[in-house]
Amino acid sequence: MIDNRGREIEISRSERIIGVRARLDQQLRDVARIWRLRQPEAREGETEKQHHHAEQTGVEDVRTMARCIARVNIPASWGDMDEAAKKAILRHFPYGLYAVTVAHDGEDHGMTANWLTQAAFEPPMIVVAVENTSKTIAMIRDAHHFAINLFLTGQRDLAGKLGRSSEQSPQKLKGIKTKPAPVAGTPVLVDALGWVECRVVATLPAGDHTLVLGQIEAAGVEHEGEPLTLQEAGFKYSG
Ligand SMILES: Cc1cc2nc3c(=O)[nH]c(=O)nc-3n(C[C@H](O)[C@H](O)[C@H](O)COP(=O)(O)O)c2cc1C
Repeated sequence: MIDNRGREIEISRSERIIGVRARLDQQLRDVARIWRLRQPEAREGETEKQHHHAEQTGVEDVRTMARCIARVNIPASWGDMDEAAKKAILRHFPYGLYAVTVAHDGEDHGMTANWLTQAAFEPPMIVVAVENTSKTIAMIRDAHHFAINLFLTGQRDLAGKLGRSSEQSPQKLKGIKTKPAPVAGTPVLVDALGWVECRVVATLPAGDHTLVLGQIEAAGVEHEGEPLTLQEAGFKYSG
């Protein structure tokens, strides 16, 4: 964190949590104030103490509303999550393994991903989480199209190869057989089980990743067989 003289300072985790809670409380107070401003009759003839009490009640009302809307239990004490449990559970989530491929400016590129799911039947959509620092996300933003290729069981080495960062391993698709998909010419893996070519419908920041929502515009089955899973490959990318 930077202090008010522009110097970098260390802040502890508990200080960070206190900061987050203070900001959240302030936001809740702001919302509560707006909420009460919309009901002027509620403020007439109030003493300072009554006003303060009403504001706190408003904060509680807003908290309750937020809980109802989100249908989640907002913890009373922020930051007390069991980190080990979170990691253990997330690492037990079952995943498939895919190659995200893209082309832009005459360059073909691909990366391995497991954070991916179908997101709608009609129109057919998928969503994939892509690292903000990856070359892939920059290319997807430029190309507006990408493809998802489903690895076949036994293609662990290929998944590992495309899972390296392009800084360490540039031109990852070199030597891998591809063909252009019909809509935007996105390269798809000829040796994969199959693929879908997608148009980017939306992107949403998600912490260190970006969610890319893609509408499927073309699809192809290349081989019969079983898909490779993260568990079978023995890779870790979750937690
Ligand atoms: C098994 C495995 C699964 C991965 N899953 C994802 C993922 O879901 N999302 C992601 O952004 N990166 C994932 N990665 C990391 C990327 O494949 C890797 O960082 C990528 O090659 C870097 O992107 P770039 O080549 O576009 O720079 C995974 C890597 C491996 C080995």
